[in-house]
Amino acid sequence: MIMTDVRNIVRVSKVTKVFKLGKVNVDALKGVDLQIAAGEYLSIMGPSGSGKSTLFNMIGGLDKPTSGKVFIDEVDIAQLDAYELAWLRCRKIGYIFQTFNIIQVMTALENVTLPMIFGGVNNDEAVERGIKLLETVGLGDRFRHRPFELSGGQQQRVAIARALANDPAIILADEPTGNLDLKTGEEIIMLLKDLSQERNVTIISATHDIKMLDISDRVVWIRDGRVDKIEKRDQLSISVCQIEEKI
Ligand SMILES: Nc1ncnc2c1ncn2[C@@H]1O[C@H](COP(=O)(O)OP(=O)(O)OP(=O)(O)O)[C@@H](O)[C@H]1O
Ligand SMILES: [Mg+2]
Repeated sequence: MIMTDVRNIVRVSKVTKVFKLGKVNVDALKGVDLQIAAGEYLSIMGPSGSGKSTLFNMIGGLDKPTSGKVFIDEVDIAQLDAYELAWLRCRKIGYIFQTFNIIQVMTALENVTLPMIFGGVNNDEAVERGIKLLETVGLGDRFRHRPFELSGGQQQRVAIARALANDPAIILADEPTGNLDLKTGEEIIMLLKDLSQERNVTIISATHDIKMLDISDRVVWIRDGRVDKIEKRDQLSISVCQIEEKI
């Protein structure tokens, strides 16, 4: 990350989210404030049910806060009309999910080119860019494979290539290594790190994976719908080495 670049690409202000389940209210987010600089690699850590995915859905414009605001490039996304919101989701943000979510009946290449076609890129150019992206994630020899012909780690690489399809400014990765073994997970983490450095993409990644800590610029600890603490890498109270010593 370029430390002189202090532009906030994401600003979350006093965000709350209440889910209503019949007569029961679930307070998933209880007032979250967060600023994320352009090009930053941010990890969001927290126990299951602490509100990580809910926060992601707010930042990604996939769901609306009950109160509070989310700004992307200082634009309040609640003010966007349906067309502008679709543009934001398609062009500005790339999404990676824990369960890969790639389309089973499509080849790796078709999965990667689909968002480009939605974005108005012509077919030849989409194929050319799709091939380059699959090469970037180390799948240069797997264009025509369908998801069931790929390993979990390879499927997640397809998902990463797809997230990069329209050259997004932000990648939201919700537990991208959650369904992968340790070594494959590490490869995916390093791939995201390289992408953030080479393309200055802002990466916001929810994780339980302690290996993510050492490569993050900052770690946000979420507990019970609130930001518990935010640590810069050099201030981390624990490190992977310490954890490995304890195991
Ligand atoms: N659609 C929903 N309806 C009702 N409650 C919900 C909904 N989505 C999430 N919740 C609740 O909100 C809280 C936060 O959930 P969330 O999915 O954000 O947690 P998380 O930190 O992503 O957990 P995990 O690490 O298990 O993925 C939980 O108590 C969950 O049960
Ligand atoms: Mg989650």
